[in-house]
Amino acid sequence: MIVSATEMLKKAHEGHYAVAQFNINNLEWTKSVLTACEEMKSPVILGVSEGAGKYMCGFKTVADMVKNIHDALGITVPVAIHLDHGTYDGAKAAIEAGFTSVMFDGSHYDIEENIEKSKEIIALAHSKGISVECEVGGIGGEEDGVTSMGEVADPEECRRVNELGVDFLAAGIGNIHGKYPANWAGLNFEVLGKIQEVTNGRPLVLHGGSGIPVDQVKRAISLGVSKINVNTELQLVFADATRKYIEEGNDQKGKGYDPRKLLAPGAKAIIEKCKAMIVDFGSDNKA
Ligand code: 13P
Repeated sequence: MIVSATEMLKKAHEGHYAVAQFNINNLEWTKSVLTACEEMKSPVILGVSEGAGKYMCGFKTVADMVKNIHDALGITVPVAIHLDHGTYDGAKAAIEAGFTSVMFDGSHYDIEENIEKSKEIIALAHSKGISVECEVGGIGGEEDGVTSMGEVADPEECRRVNELGVDFLAAGIGNIHGKYPANWAGLNFEVLGKIQEVTNGRPLVLHGGSGIPVDQVKRAISLGVSKINVNTELQLVFADATRKYIEEGNDQKGKGYDPRKLLAPGAKAIIEKCKAMIVDFGSDNKA
């Protein structure tokens, strides 16, 4: 069922678990993620960055591909097609192309401009039944050329963005996109607690979900995190499985070079990783 992310995240917040946003990069990724979520009876948010959207020949191609794969596989769990870290123009384009959820990331603007632009995107998206995520305070690291120092969000700014009626809110709490460095200080739970207090039970979003120790994930969920974004982790298991296949010489045996065979171990590795993370986040059997 293709839906906006509003209801699934409200339920997750009430039920004290988190729904994964698994970012997709191509057809194999989409098929693997949807297969894993159907098997686990878990709702899911498919994240598409602007870079990944461009790579897959535009938002319309992505939206149509997801809908067709969803139908072909007979997926019954709730699935949202979500723009990840959208610009102002990107969010409008994704809404137009048939996405069911968008993130407008205005965290690099000053707070007044972030609020103005967030307000406009929220009004436009809500007029079409589409859910919106906004961001306060940057997420550290680099994703698709978007870099940030990883500020810790100001709870007062979170309160103001929350009042706009955003559906779920991403706030920097020391989380980082990509691999965490060995000297990473961990998530800032004190600030997360304050943010949840001033946002009146709004579902919160944890970006940079790859490589966060499970105890920190569970504590974040207990403090109001209802959506966790994962991209790097799936890229790593895909690359590892593909490397192993080639290093073992399997592409040279028979027709092992056939892309359907070459990409199969990576696709399987994505399914297994998604299933394990769904259990960690507690969204299994919640569809
Ligand atoms: P990771 O690549 O670190 O998992 O982060 C994903 C993310 O936050 C997408 O917005």
